[in-house]
Amino acid sequence: MTRAQVGLAAALLALLALSGSVVGFSEQVHRGYLAHSWAAYCPPEQLANWSCYWCQDNGTRLVDTVYDNRSRLYGYVAYNPINSTIIVSFRGSSNVANWLYDFDTIRVTLNDTDVHLHAGFYAAWTGVRGQVNSMVAHVVMTLCPTCNRIINVGHSLGAAVAGLSSLELAVALPHCQSELHTFGMPRTGDVNYVAMARRMLSNITRMVHQADIVPHLPPQEFGFAHLPAEVWNLSNNTAGIPQKYVLCDGSGEDPGCSDSVPFWDWSASNHDTYMGLPDSQCNYVHATHQAELEALKRSMA
Ligand SMILES: *[C@@H]1O[C@H](CO)[C@@H](O)[C@H](O)[C@H]1NC(C)=O
Ligand SMILES: *[C@@H]1O[C@H](CO)[C@@H](O)[C@H](O)[C@H]1NC(C)=O
Ligand SMILES: *[C@@H]1O[C@H](CO)[C@@H](O)[C@H](O)[C@H]1NC(C)=O
Ligand SMILES: *[C@@H]1O[C@H](CO)[C@@H](O)[C@H](O)[C@H]1NC(C)=O
Ligand SMILES: *[C@@H]1O[C@H](CO)[C@@H](O)[C@H](O)[C@H]1NC(C)=O
Ligand SMILES: *[C@@H]1O[C@H](CO)[C@@H](O)[C@H](O)[C@H]1NC(C)=O
Ligand SMILES: *[C@@H]1O[C@H](CO)[C@@H](O)[C@H](O)[C@H]1NC(C)=O
Ligand SMILES: *[C@@H]1O[C@H](CO)[C@@H](O)[C@H](O)[C@H]1NC(C)=O
Repeated sequence: MTRAQVGLAAALLALLALSGSVVGFSEQVHRGYLAHSWAAYCPPEQLANWSCYWCQDNGTRLVDTVYDNRSRLYGYVAYNPINSTIIVSFRGSSNVANWLYDFDTIRVTLNDTDVHLHAGFYAAWTGVRGQVNSMVAHVVMTLCPTCNRIINVGHSLGAAVAGLSSLELAVALPHCQSELHTFGMPRTGDVNYVAMARRMLSNITRMVHQADIVPHLPPQEFGFAHLPAEVWNLSNNTAGIPQKYVLCDGSGEDPGCSDSVPFWDWSASNHDTYMGLPDSQCNYVHATHQAELEALKRSMA
């Protein structure tokens, strides 16, 4: 390559990186997205009157909770007429240790596209897809016709599912802006999935806390890739000084961010705290799941 070509290539790469970088990251706004992610761990009766511990976004009204009793996925659809937002939020797995143990790498194809998705995450989404789609349609048609910003959020498994809901809601409601803000998101699909999300979504952020193990899975070697733009929340340093959030490049796999953590340092406990807030205030388990867990306990006694 000539010097000019090298310069051009570098400029293009810089542009590519910029196009996916974090648009106006605000810690305060992100605390709101995190509160909505943690609220998906709270019971339906507390979400119904918006009284849960994490129910801080004033003016929010629940449409309903969603549940898939095959994958156990739980979440909610809500809206806030004050700022014309629709919130779609999913909780994480009730047992991260088991979930990591079962982590498989089987991929399925999305419709008739070249996009490949993690089979388990896609199955969880298809288990609630109908419920979510009809609730969001009910908001824009009846409850809040001015609502035009769909904020998809979630933690862990819920982050992966929010990634899929954000895409399909962008397809279904092209006049709305579909955004995705996640915490501890696993890799959900291949590079074509990442490209589709870049095309369809308005604003993507993907926060990773320190050495959280989940964003390292499934590994890239199995054909999975991350969405931009990572925001890396570093823990306090050894002197106890809080570190700044690192705004990572737009590649989705910034080698200077959490990808730089070697596998022997990956941490399951880092997965349960984001922005200094643990996910422990609510731990709702759906009644059908609870009944099964109790039956299992009895059979083992
Ligand atoms: C994207 O999100 C950030 C932080 O959540 C916000 O400050 C910004 O306004 C959003 N950008 C767009 C284009 O919606
Ligand atoms: C909201 O609902 C919960 C559970 O049903 C109830 O205990 C609580 O008193 C209600 N709070 C308000 C402010 O209505
Ligand atoms: C919407 O408005 C409420 C109440 O003012 C605020 O708490 C919340 O952060 C806003 N949400 C977004 C996504 O801007
Ligand atoms: C939300 O409402 C409560 C009670 O009315 C109030 O104390 C709190 O300051 C409000 N928060 C915001 C962000 O507006
Ligand atoms: C789903 O829920 C129904 C009852 O609502 C129950 O009969 C069925 O066994 C559940 N299936 C699974 C896989 O949990
Ligand atoms: C895939 O197909 C389903 C079922 O027809 C549809 O609801 C969904 O929007 C499609 N997904 C995308 C991303 O086009
Ligand atoms: C980090 O430092 C801040 C300020 O010094 C402190 O409030 C916080 O508890 C520390 N967090 C951890 C996880 O040590
Ligand atoms: C990052 O996470 C730690 C918890 O380990 C928290 O104390 C801190 O406030 C977060 N934010 C920053 C900027 O470090």
